[in-house]
Amino acid sequence: MEEQISKIESDVKEKIKKVESLQELQDLRVKYLGKKGELTIILKGLSDISDEERPKVGSLVNKLRDDIEEAIQSAEKIIKDSQIEQKLKEEKIDVTMPSKNIKLGSVHPITQVIEDVKEIFLGMGYSIADGPEIEKTYYIFDQLNTPIDHPARDLQDTIYITEDIALRSHTSSVQIRTMENQKPPIRIICPGAVYRSDTVDATHAAAFYQIEGLVVDKNITMTDLKGTLEMFAKKCLGESTKIRFRPHHFAYTEPSAEVDVSCFVCGGKGCRVCKNEGWIELLGCGMVHPKVLEGCGIDSKVYSGFAFGFGVERIAMAKFEIDDVRLLYENDVRFLKQF
Ligand code: DAH
Repeated sequence: MEEQISKIESDVKEKIKKVESLQELQDLRVKYLGKKGELTIILKGLSDISDEERPKVGSLVNKLRDDIEEAIQSAEKIIKDSQIEQKLKEEKIDVTMPSKNIKLGSVHPITQVIEDVKEIFLGMGYSIADGPEIEKTYYIFDQLNTPIDHPARDLQDTIYITEDIALRSHTSSVQIRTMENQKPPIRIICPGAVYRSDTVDATHAAAFYQIEGLVVDKNITMTDLKGTLEMFAKKCLGESTKIRFRPHHFAYTEPSAEVDVSCFVCGGKGCRVCKNEGWIELLGCGMVHPKVLEGCGIDSKVYSGFAFGFGVERIAMAKFEIDDVRLLYENDVRFLKQF
């Protein structure tokens, strides 16, 4: 028995010396120490040995187990170390290599317009207001003096969630929220998404962006509105831009107007962008209706105000000469990186 054990010992030592891979070491471990390994079998057979011999053989086998495990582990370490060393040699980093060209994205045209407009109005002392996109009809219509039978309230125009909650169809709702929470003087603009149940085509989107403006103070007149919009148009679209007012109707302003700007591509001569009109419709505006002020607890005998609202896509499309609004939402990088 002792002879058998010492033969195993010399065999193992011999084999470990020749081993070249971790797998071979694992195979050796299984062959000698595994469940059916040679040493395990000897240990299991100890019961057949005489009582005097058993302790001696038992301790020899156990010691050999430990020795083999130790030898395998140190051989493993040597192999792993040399593998790491090999890897480090192969993976030398050449710090003088030119780096890869990192592709940078670009700012979306709609974001560019919103940022431009914000900067212009912040420069005029306005602050930025915000309001929810899922809104009570109370803020979208009722408080804006919009009669219950007004077509804008129609299911064909407005996307309702419940009878009195809808996706806001314009940012004018933020006027009311602002006036409810803030005392005059008020000077705000509110950029944000709006939703309408429109069929999508080259000039219509079901979700788009608007910017709303509101000023309430003592002695605010139509002249202030005109001056403000003229300044805005020149800063946003170019110094030579002219504006014109056309009478219009909005329930929440009196008087109301629509404002056109001279075409900033052809200067008013007529071209593809302005459809040969020389003018491009820019926004809706007016003097805040006294009923709207009073509804928000503002004394219309002391205070007056003006408001305006426009679509961001319209400006982005005109400015960047984009002829299909859908291009702005398809997020094709080849299209977007031009701006
Ligand atoms: N809410 C109007 C729209 O969605 C735009 C508008 C018109 C806003 C007149 C105003 C305003 O503040 O006074 O078309």
